[in-house]
Amino acid sequence: MFSAYVVTALAPYVPLEPTAIAALLEAPPSPDLGDLAFPCFHLAKELRKAPAAIATELAERLRAEGASGAGSPVAEVTAAGPYLNFKLDRAAVGARLLSDILTQGDAWLGSSAGAGRTVCIDFCSPNVARRMHLGHLRSTVIGKALARLHEAHGYRVVRINFLGDWGTQFGKLIAAWKRWGDPAAAAVDPIAELQRLYVHFHSIAKEDPAVEEEGRTWFKRLEDGDPEARQLWAWIRERSLASMKSTLSLLDVGFDDYNGEAFYEERNQAVVRLLAERGLLVENEGAQVVELESMPPCLILKADGATLYATRDLAAALHREEVYHPARSLYVVDLGQGLHFRQVFATLEKLGAPWAGGLEHVGFGIMRVGGKRLRTRAGDVIYLEDVLQQSIDLAREELLARSPGMANLDEVARAIGVGAVIFNDLKQNRQKDIDYDPAEAVSFDGETGPYVQYAHARCRNVLRKARVGECAPVPHPAYTGAPEWSLLTALARFPAAARDAMQRCEPHLAARALLDLAKALSHFYHESPVLRAEPGAREARLALVAATAIALRRGLWLLGLEAPPMRDENT
Ligand code: ARG
Repeated sequence: MFSAYVVTALAPYVPLEPTAIAALLEAPPSPDLGDLAFPCFHLAKELRKAPAAIATELAERLRAEGASGAGSPVAEVTAAGPYLNFKLDRAAVGARLLSDILTQGDAWLGSSAGAGRTVCIDFCSPNVARRMHLGHLRSTVIGKALARLHEAHGYRVVRINFLGDWGTQFGKLIAAWKRWGDPAAAAVDPIAELQRLYVHFHSIAKEDPAVEEEGRTWFKRLEDGDPEARQLWAWIRERSLASMKSTLSLLDVGFDDYNGEAFYEERNQAVVRLLAERGLLVENEGAQVVELESMPPCLILKADGATLYATRDLAAALHREEVYHPARSLYVVDLGQGLHFRQVFATLEKLGAPWAGGLEHVGFGIMRVGGKRLRTRAGDVIYLEDVLQQSIDLAREELLARSPGMANLDEVARAIGVGAVIFNDLKQNRQKDIDYDPAEAVSFDGETGPYVQYAHARCRNVLRKARVGECAPVPHPAYTGAPEWSLLTALARFPAAARDAMQRCEPHLAARALLDLAKALSHFYHESPVLRAEPGAREARLALVAATAIALRRGLWLLGLEAPPMRDENT
């Protein structure tokens, strides 16, 4: 961050903490005035002086005591009314930033803020026995980005897929399989067969209550540990997991922990006992609940003694604390489940769990395709795999049109197509509902993943053509030019954006900074010659391109996108 130079220069002279100074710095109205400005209004009260007088005095002191001027990263400080304007030694600070990026390479961007600490991220977490659909996309994409953002900041990350692998639907599936199951079809495509059975079960059960009853009986047998029921359940889960993993491999996501609702079903009784011991369980219309302030009670046991979603989430939270002892525990689940998580967290608070404050519901809005809200219960389910495949196909068409001789076309098309879907999601505030327009998302122009991926590939192509080896940037006047300086500024801002994105669980802050970087790069290419620049400027700009390539690659990685080379075999 370039502002750090100003903070360091100014801190000894003002009664403010460095972080407070940093927060007050702004961009002057015109770059001719300076690179950063400090408003002195905030000091007027404490120093009992007019802001303009404070600015004049501070400027003089900084100059007199050598906090600015030749040899210092702050080249010039001037007072302009109530503002202090700072001009940086752009050539020197630019070269320093670039050396930093180039020496660290792919280790650049990040910190050790989370060293020795663990973060659990519960994401994806689909209900099994069905193919993954569009509704599972956002959690998976946001969760993956949050995992990488935390990893880059030194955390140990535990990726948890809390499978929805328990519940009455398993009784129905088993009953349907016993009656109408087709082993041949199941051998070919088990998930399709399970989905067929589920639909069929419901259509028959509507007319025939005996069938519904059969489903209930099988679920009861499953709960009681009946071997046949258990075996069929395990088969359904195992096949679902295999299908899920194949979809997830397209998104390059893996998990450390697949303990789902079934796993916690066995631990539920401990939760019930604990709540009862603490006197928190209350009877409410036959059910056992925990009463909470300013929200509906948390349901723990139904009247028939069956446990609920909240019971299992309580069991899971207690277990995760025991096993992983996380500093942060994130639940990347749609905003529709907001109340559920508030109830679960509040119940843990009631239990006096001191770690409950580390639990966060990272909620997100709905995803629409072409303006239509996704309906999961209707027949028109959009499968996740199809969404990705369609985007990959569009990317391939686009690539063929742009550079027919592209090497590794299939690989690049996959990286671009999948990246388009991911970036379309992450560039927007997660709380908002988002629209997915396949053609728009995959376009190489506009605020898209492919635009950023292309910017990266372009850097690599320039560096390849220049045949540069190691770059060791030195201060050069080329860095003072407006396009160069805005690119340097975009680079300098990126680490703070990544840190904020991690802390606030807002990947879009990093995505936005990445777009700014790619845009600054395009502007720079447009304005300043690189390969054809004169010696000196050429090396200086090549170092800028090399550092930008690293930053773009790192940024794409953080968000879960690949950075494929895009090289035309004909050039
Ligand atoms: N399986 C749930 C669903 O599909 C999401 C689970 C989210 N994670 C959790 N710990 N509750 O709605």
